[in-house]
Amino acid sequence: MRKKIIVGNWKMNMTTMETKSFLEMLKVSISVQNAEVLICPSFTSIGAAVNVLQDTNISVGAQNISSEERGSYTGEVSIEMLKEIGVAHSIIGHSERRKFFFETDEIVNKKAKLALENGVIPIICVGEDIKERKSNKHIEFVESQIRKALADLNIMKIEDIIIAYEPVWAIGTGETATLDQIEEMCSYIRYFIAQIVGVSISEKIRILYGGSVNKENVTSIVNMNNIDGVLVGGASLKPEFVDMVKQVEK
Ligand code: PGA
Repeated sequence: MRKKIIVGNWKMNMTTMETKSFLEMLKVSISVQNAEVLICPSFTSIGAAVNVLQDTNISVGAQNISSEERGSYTGEVSIEMLKEIGVAHSIIGHSERRKFFFETDEIVNKKAKLALENGVIPIICVGEDIKERKSNKHIEFVESQIRKALADLNIMKIEDIIIAYEPVWAIGTGETATLDQIEEMCSYIRYFIAQIVGVSISEKIRILYGGSVNKENVTSIVNMNNIDGVLVGGASLKPEFVDMVKQVEK
């Protein structure tokens, strides 16, 4: 059985003070037993988040890691630094990083490798933009992202990775993909993974959906066959996130 997971991607929101007060509220409002809950704040708030959540089942992850281990890379944050403060998961290759910070599939692959080798679970984001969807190229586009992201990953550890399918046209737009579109793509993703690592490992890998998930649509999304959770942006900054966690827990 794949355990459901709900991930809050806070992007560049919430100061350390705001992080503390939101997480104080969150930890008294939910009890986490059946599902995993992961919050990914900004780098500067990770330490505070880990402190607030230390006696809970809520984990804290990063939104990004450097592709380099250490050295002269001004402004970067290394995986060792993140592990030291309690991070065991990192989002990798989010579409905003691909778009605004020019992250290529090769960089995503390098980061995923580095994460796995260091015992950090990569949450690898893939997803087509509206032009691929409209020209009916979305499946082959995502297939190529998956193949490049997973190239030469350590097969022994690969079942730990998490894939997040986030159609770019559904992120922050209020426009969610339909359940059929989500299930279709996620079952293709599992099929592509099976071709790379075999069916039995592919059955263990969790696939999430992200893109305008909110308290109205979360239950129907996580109940789909090939969906093992959600990656939530905007709604994870609001009190409705409490309700969303409770729905995923059920
Ligand atoms: P959204 O963002 O929920 O605000 O659409 C999702 C994401 O970018 O991970």
